Amino acid sequence: MNYHIAVIPGDGIGPEIVREACKVMDRAGQVFGHQFTYTEVLMGGCSIDAHGVPLTEEALETARKSDSVLLGAVGGNVGNSRWYDVAPNLRPEAGLLAMRKGLNLFANIRPAYLYPELADACPLKREVAGDGFDMVIMRELTGGLYFGKRHTEEVDGVLTAVDTLTYNENEIRRIAVKAFDTAMKRRKKVISVDKANVLDSSRLWRKVVEEVAKDYPEVSLSHMLVDNCAMQLVMNPGQFDVILTENMFGDILSDEASMITGSIGMLSSASMNEGKFGLYEPSHGSAPDIAGKDLANPIATILSSAMMLRYSFDLEKEADAVENAVKQVLAEGYRTADIMVGDGLKEVGCTQMGTLIADRIR
Ligand code: IPM
Ligand code: MG
Repeated sequence: MNYHIAVIPGDGIGPEIVREACKVMDRAGQVFGHQFTYTEVLMGGCSIDAHGVPLTEEALETARKSDSVLLGAVGGNVGNSRWYDVAPNLRPEAGLLAMRKGLNLFANIRPAYLYPELADACPLKREVAGDGFDMVIMRELTGGLYFGKRHTEEVDGVLTAVDTLTYNENEIRRIAVKAFDTAMKRRKKVISVDKANVLDSSRLWRKVVEEVAKDYPEVSLSHMLVDNCAMQLVMNPGQFDVILTENMFGDILSDEASMITGSIGMLSSASMNEGKFGLYEPSHGSAPDIAGKDLANPIATILSSAMMLRYSFDLEKEADAVENAVKQVLAEGYRTADIMVGDGLKEVGCTQMGTLIADRIR
């Protein structure tokens, strides 16, 4: 099969990590007899430099027409870059939000698990990390505070900013369905995270999630307040299977969940529409401070490409092969700088890490 992939290298370390992910996909293509064709798309700061906007209509169209999208990272140092001296809707991140909304990518799937090989890099005490953990955060991605009406105005001489958090029952239902479907393929446990003791949107969230749960009698559902969840993640991460939550809570909790795996450089993500179309990107950002130095960890992006093979193309054994190659390279002791914790390890750069992983696909 031939698959057409829109590739968005983006800013900072984006181009280097995406290059390694494509290297690994090409190797998987060679071994299993597929062809991946890449069309490069500008988004973020690089698009601002070229076109004055973070995402052009043509770029969005190219992504829409592709079979799936692979993204590195967008953005630079906030407050320290020409890209941020403009209206909020012209900043690099606005391109990403427009892409998510424009392609209806409402389901953001962020797995977080602790590789036994990286146990030393986990910042939690051994007794807390226990036998490790393996969770998926199902984050709603096209609603809530990110897309509500906002403005800043002077009220009686006082500058006042307003952001609004809106969810309707349909938006909640479709992400809840994704969470329960995911749980059915895992340990059948959904923890829905909200702030129902304060927010109306959370109370509606709870009600709709409970309705959806009725269709999944095998899945156990419980609710957790977001502040408690933040605490539980570092107290007892092993209790989580699928975490279902709204956009902003999911943004925050997924950074926390990724950090306890040892490095944010390990965490993949998929943003899906109602069907099989998705945008795949690492959970981390563009890390401008280390860009172009061959120091970045490409594993999150490589694992994101494995998610693409699995979720968009149904290429299960190919995805397994990529994930196993990552495990093997870690087991052999190769590490990028961010995960160099422990004895007897071999430090490698971004390019070599990509090559090592590609070489182990068979
Ligand atoms: C993420 C990022 C984005 C978000 C930013 C870059 C807008 O933090 O994907 O988690 O907040 O969604
Ligand atoms: Mg984030």
